[in-house]
Amino acid sequence: MKAVVVYESIWGNTAAVARAIAEGIGPEARALSTAEATPDVVADATLIVAGAPIQGFSLPNDRMRAGIRTDTVPAPDLSTPTLRSWLEHLPAGNGRSAAFDTKIRWSPGSAASVIDRELARAGYAPAVKAEHFIVAGQTGPLKDGELERARQWGTTLAAIAG
Ligand SMILES: Cc1cc2nc3c(=O)[nH]c(=O)nc-3n(C[C@H](O)[C@H](O)[C@H](O)COP(=O)(O)O)c2cc1C
Repeated sequence: MKAVVVYESIWGNTAAVARAIAEGIGPEARALSTAEATPDVVADATLIVAGAPIQGFSLPNDRMRAGIRTDTVPAPDLSTPTLRSWLEHLPAGNGRSAAFDTKIRWSPGSAASVIDRELARAGYAPAVKAEHFIVAGQTGPLKDGELERARQWGTTLAAIAG
């Protein structure tokens, strides 16, 4: 199995979840930003896991990106493409997939449902139900226990999709 865990992350919370999921999947998995996960890197993946923060109750878009304040602590990383744009350019494949997002507990909406749909459109059929990981506020931190839950989700995923 070749697994890639691709993420969009402004303050590092979704990136940390992605790394924990990759750890849970095993040594054959790599966590990569949307900039690092170039088409040649994902070309022969048998499992693509993709995750992003929920913004505006959905998968972030360029308009949401443009509105993000740059004076937060920690500073936002706005240098990588949105996952939405990455998914639009994902070449067709035929592996399995899984989607996750990070969100504030009370929020409605989902980024993961859009991710699931776009991965399926590219030929990567969802292997499991999407998962959601909770942050305390806009810049984080992740709620206690979420990284462990992400690791376990990765392990479960590998057992199902491996
Ligand atoms: C412009 C903007 C809109 C947001 N909208 C939502 C939202 O609708 N629901 C929600 O749960 N969180 C929302 N958030 C909080 C993000 O989900 C949170 O910043 C993210 O989980 C942090 O992950 P990251 O550090 O990987 O970017 C929003 C954040 C921003 C900056």
